[in-house]
Amino acid sequence: KKLIIINGPNLNLLGKREPNIYGSLTFTEFLEEVRKKYKDIQIDYFQSNIEGELIDKIQDVGFSYDGIILNAAAYTHTSVGIGDAVKAIETSVIEVHISNTFGREEFRHQSYISPNAKGVILGFGLQSYELAIQSFI
Ligand code: DQA
Repeated sequence: KKLIIINGPNLNLLGKREPNIYGSLTFTEFLEEVRKKYKDIQIDYFQSNIEGELIDKIQDVGFSYDGIILNAAAYTHTSVGIGDAVKAIETSVIEVHISNTFGREEFRHQSYISPNAKGVILGFGLQSYELAIQSFI
């Protein structure tokens, strides 16, 4: 199986960004653990702070990969373009968030990804990503 994790803006700062909300593990450390645990699965990774680059990547992988695990971060709540990209492709997308966005500010309750995602996993810290991987196995 071929999966990709796509992370949006500011998620490159995981480990040092608001650790009370997002934890103190870096994404590289987490990814290393998860790749060891799920050796039979190819787990690619892409992060960008740029909306168009996220759309390009979704289009690139969206007709050949078995699954996309997408944390569009702040763009979740603003990007019609990323929402349209998710709708346009064939590969199933699981939307993930580290924090429970419904327990936070009102503007984080809106998602342009959810209507076209296969499912949504949020609030479990970095484990949200692992649960999404398991959903594709
Ligand atoms: C986030 C939640 C978003 O509201 C926020 O903008 C992020 C991270 C999460 O994983 O909890 O950057 O997607």
